[in-house]
Amino acid sequence: MNTVTVRRFIGPALLISAAVLVGCERPPVDVEQTGYRGTGMQNPENPRMRERDRARHEAPDALSEASDSGPRASEVYENVEVLGDLSVAEFQRVMRAMTEWVSPEQGCNYCHVDGDFASEDIYTKAVSRRMLEMTRHINANWEAHAGETGVTCFTCHRGENVPEEQWFYEEDDSRFPGAGNRQMQNMPSSKTAQSSLPRNAFDAYLEGDREISVQGDSALPTDHVASIQHTELTYSLMMHMSDSLGVSCQVCHNSRAFGAWDQSPPQRTTAWHGIRMVRELNNAYLNPLTSIFPDHRLGPQGDVGKINCATCHQGIQQPLYGANMVDAYPSLVGAADEDTREMDWEMETDPSEEIETDGDGEMARFSAEEQERQLYAERLSRYLDDRE
Ligand code: HEC
Ligand code: HEC
Ligand code: HEC
Ligand code: HEC
Repeated sequence: MNTVTVRRFIGPALLISAAVLVGCERPPVDVEQTGYRGTGMQNPENPRMRERDRARHEAPDALSEASDSGPRASEVYENVEVLGDLSVAEFQRVMRAMTEWVSPEQGCNYCHVDGDFASEDIYTKAVSRRMLEMTRHINANWEAHAGETGVTCFTCHRGENVPEEQWFYEEDDSRFPGAGNRQMQNMPSSKTAQSSLPRNAFDAYLEGDREISVQGDSALPTDHVASIQHTELTYSLMMHMSDSLGVSCQVCHNSRAFGAWDQSPPQRTTAWHGIRMVRELNNAYLNPLTSIFPDHRLGPQGDVGKINCATCHQGIQQPLYGANMVDAYPSLVGAADEDTREMDWEMETDPSEEIETDGDGEMARFSAEEQERQLYAERLSRYLDDRE
């Protein structure tokens, strides 16, 4: 090559490298070891991004304590179903806190008719009552996930009427007959951390109870055959979990054996409980509210906004950096298993008829897809029936 040709290459080469590097994070990056030395289990974190986002994850100060003496709320007010045992002062303190957490701009009248607190005419009041029950249920019965930290309305709402992170069913993705079906894939979406994986993993795992397991114990496909579709859905969920917590897969897995529990850090167990918790919250608390919400709050398929890992975590490993949320609000901790309605729902899918394990990959894939379509059809017709 002569100098002129070399020059002709250097310019574009520099431009291309600059363009590639723009997408990189500037070093140094903190790396935390998450497993035994030599296993490559590490979680990189950028301290500058952490600083930048710090304010977003700051928990608000608790309101000053209220007196516990005097008559109970149930003796003074008309329509109190959940917080009746509180003193009137504490009841009002919780109302003020809820206002700060959910409707700081609109104030009390976001849930109340002006001048008539007992009225049940505004739907947000009915929703809030159920949200109170849900919050109390999480804090009382999901210690396996939320620990001593617990949650308040703020954990999800952050001062907004509707949490920033929630999910709806996808719109029908099929094209006109004969033009193929995209299978909910290959479109960028925050649900899959912008990967090309399917966008309907939440339906299967954070609402339905399909098994999340794709690996067999041997190299041969003898003991365990998961379809390609099932595998893609699993990876899609895993991308969401990593993304919602802002962590690498290695915070929960030793990537030489994703399935092996005995090589997994304790975070994986916490996450396992988290998946079950989210399923329950969506089925027992959110879905039954569908008919109460006005149309503009529902998704394109007429479904209610539902919870995923990001609803609480919002990009970090411990929501609000692990700030204790419940100590200052003991009234947001319910009684253990007080809410018997929690089991009042049926699983969307029956795991026993899940994936065909006859070793025929194509058949298995087809039947899983067929099932998925039926799931949508059933859900839609149920929804239409409910609305009539
Ligand atoms: C995000 C919704 C929401 C906001 C905002 C809110 N409340 Fe409430 N309020 C409720 C719910 C839900 C109940 C019923 C609680 C229960 O059943 O235990 C209630 C009940 C009440 C009652 C009892 C009324 C009765 O006679 O039954 C009073 C009083 C009250 N709220 C005052 C307030 C005040 C004052 C504010 C503003 C500082 C406020 N609320 C803000 C949701 C809200
Ligand atoms: C926050 C913890 C967490 C993170 C992060 C995470 N996983 Fe998982 N993973 C789990 C849990 C929990 C299960 C088991 C789920 C169940 O059984 O309900 C699982 C299951 C799996 C499985 C199925 C294993 C089997 O038994 O067949 C694979 C594969 C997998 N994860 C891959 C990944 C990949 C790839 C990433 C990174 C993109 C990742 N995971 C990130 C917690 C996590
Ligand atoms: C685990 C997450 C979570 C917690 C905790 C939570 N919420 Fe919600 N809330 C949601 C989701 C998700 C929706 C959205 C449903 C939709 O829009 O379809 C919602 C919707 C609402 C709405 C309806 C808002 C509107 O304008 O339509 C109100 C009011 C509300 N929540 C009040 C509360 C109160 C009060 C608390 C605490 C006692 C609370 N929430 C705790 C997740 C949560
Ligand atoms: C209702 C709110 C909420 C939702 C939804 C939620 N989490 Fe959590 N999660 C928490 C809280 C609170 C903690 C902190 C517990 C503590 O401090 O001990 C936590 C802790 C964790 C931890 C342990 C972090 C650590 O290193 O200590 C993991 C892992 C985790 N969550 C994964 C998940 C996954 C995966 C999902 C979705 C399937 C999920 N969470 C959904 C509230 C939530």
